Amino acid sequence: MSNDSGGDLFSLCRRRGFVWPSFELYGGVAGMYDYGPLGSNMRNNIVEVWRDIYRGREGFIEIDSETVNPREVFKASGHVDEFADLVTYCKGCEAASRADHLVKEFFDNPDVLTPKELDEAFVKFKVKCPECGGDLGPVEEFNLMFKTAIGPGSSRVGYLRPETAQGIFVNYLNLYRYNREKLPLGVIQTGRGYRNEIAPRQGMIRMREFNMMEVELFVDPADKGWIRFPEIENDPITLVPNTGTETVTMTVGEAVEKGIIANKVLAYFVYTTQQFLTRLGIDPKRLRFRQHLRDEMAHYAMDCWDAEVLLSYGWIEITGIADRGCWDLSRHAEFSGTDLTHFKKFDEPKEMEIDKVKAKHKALGPKFKEKAKAIAEIMETKLPSDVRDGKLALDLEDNEIVLDGEFFEVVKVREKVSGERVVPHVIEPSHGLDRIFYSVLEHSFAYDKENDYTVLRLAPEVAPIKAGIFPLMEKDGMDALAMDIYKKVHSPSTEAYYDGSGTIGRRYARMDEVGTPWCITVDYESLDGPLKGTVTIRDRDTAAQKRIPADSVPDILRLLLSGRQFDSL
Ligand code: GLY
Repeated sequence: MSNDSGGDLFSLCRRRGFVWPSFELYGGVAGMYDYGPLGSNMRNNIVEVWRDIYRGREGFIEIDSETVNPREVFKASGHVDEFADLVTYCKGCEAASRADHLVKEFFDNPDVLTPKELDEAFVKFKVKCPECGGDLGPVEEFNLMFKTAIGPGSSRVGYLRPETAQGIFVNYLNLYRYNREKLPLGVIQTGRGYRNEIAPRQGMIRMREFNMMEVELFVDPADKGWIRFPEIENDPITLVPNTGTETVTMTVGEAVEKGIIANKVLAYFVYTTQQFLTRLGIDPKRLRFRQHLRDEMAHYAMDCWDAEVLLSYGWIEITGIADRGCWDLSRHAEFSGTDLTHFKKFDEPKEMEIDKVKAKHKALGPKFKEKAKAIAEIMETKLPSDVRDGKLALDLEDNEIVLDGEFFEVVKVREKVSGERVVPHVIEPSHGLDRIFYSVLEHSFAYDKENDYTVLRLAPEVAPIKAGIFPLMEKDGMDALAMDIYKKVHSPSTEAYYDGSGTIGRRYARMDEVGTPWCITVDYESLDGPLKGTVTIRDRDTAAQKRIPADSVPDILRLLLSGRQFDSL
């Protein structure tokens, strides 16, 4: 994690319990971090904002699937064959390096280079091992998935999932039925993903075990509109299209009209990502959406836009919004032999030319005798997509029979049909939760060097502690009243912090440093005199204070948390 933004964000995170490097007791493991109490709170708050948008506003459904998956899942998804980075091992010290990272100062987009091009670049630019200066070995592919065995022995190969998305795709039929066989179907999932990164060096930006918030939206491929698109089409968005390196700001509507973003549904969720990230406190001036170059795109994507934020590391991707087309469902249908289509009913039946499975009665009769008629009937209920490698499997009286092309054919017929089967396309906003968490911290971090004073200007709904509650001094009943207020305010969703020790200035500073938006103080005036029964409330960002009735503290905090301005109290 960088420690070069302002004061020292890294030491703050460790000291105050946001994030700790994992396994420090045993020397640590690169690319692994644990969330401390404040980090866990803040991360949960980010997830709740995401849920509010996707489950609340958009009405999507949420699932929680397994993190260890059998090999078949990732063979079908393409990860077994395609999900690799390029590695080179030092011929001297044997340290592994990510090959494209070693040449990033010489190329705009080094991750599109082939192993051969990278080998040549090492020679041309005299690139050596970053650890010992030794010569680099040949560049080769390294699959990023962690491999394991399911059960004893190694008979069933499994992998830790590199993305949560596949858990949604393999549950498509369950989800489709749950949604009463209707599209669009929006599903969200948050959880761990695992990537055995070659040489993670950028703190929380490149973690081997990481948290994702993924959204998979199944849509009709012929209807990539979105009902709420008109609500946002006139709003601005900053884009870096893959046709150049220029940053352009335009409305979302213009981006679609000009064909910069391919369709309305993709554009809507690019914009939703902007709403989500800025609501969390990402600085809009340090946020842009960059379209992947064609050869940069993941194996499953037809189009992809990265939300990138400017951090102390440079521009970093924190969310990818991809149009995965029909890749995932087609592949899982093919590999599992299961129909994963959507039946799209027409408004009126239409006459169409369609492919149909037709029985060859002349061949069936002599071979299957009295069963031939029943076989032909079952056969003709099958879809052309049920034919695999030229063969058709069907169940007859609880027995499976597999027939080859001698017994059936796929013919074109014109028929009045009430609908057609389509493979849904998937639009996927995939959020890297840890990267977002870290980016929010960096964009909220304000360090006043002159006074050596740090404030985390976290959005109240993201802040891990919502209110500090203090007695001016822990005596004369101020402590009892402060504790009483604390008990009324504190809950898992409105974390409060009681602190009675040290100077009041020091206590405010400790709360500012962890981003607590408001502090409540019980003083002598709270106990006696004309202001009896009132307490002060202090605003983190302005340090302004007001007096409010002690018994209205929970309601006032609720109002502030729902967006009411401090000034208007
Ligand atoms: N599911 C998107 C990703 O793995 O990055």
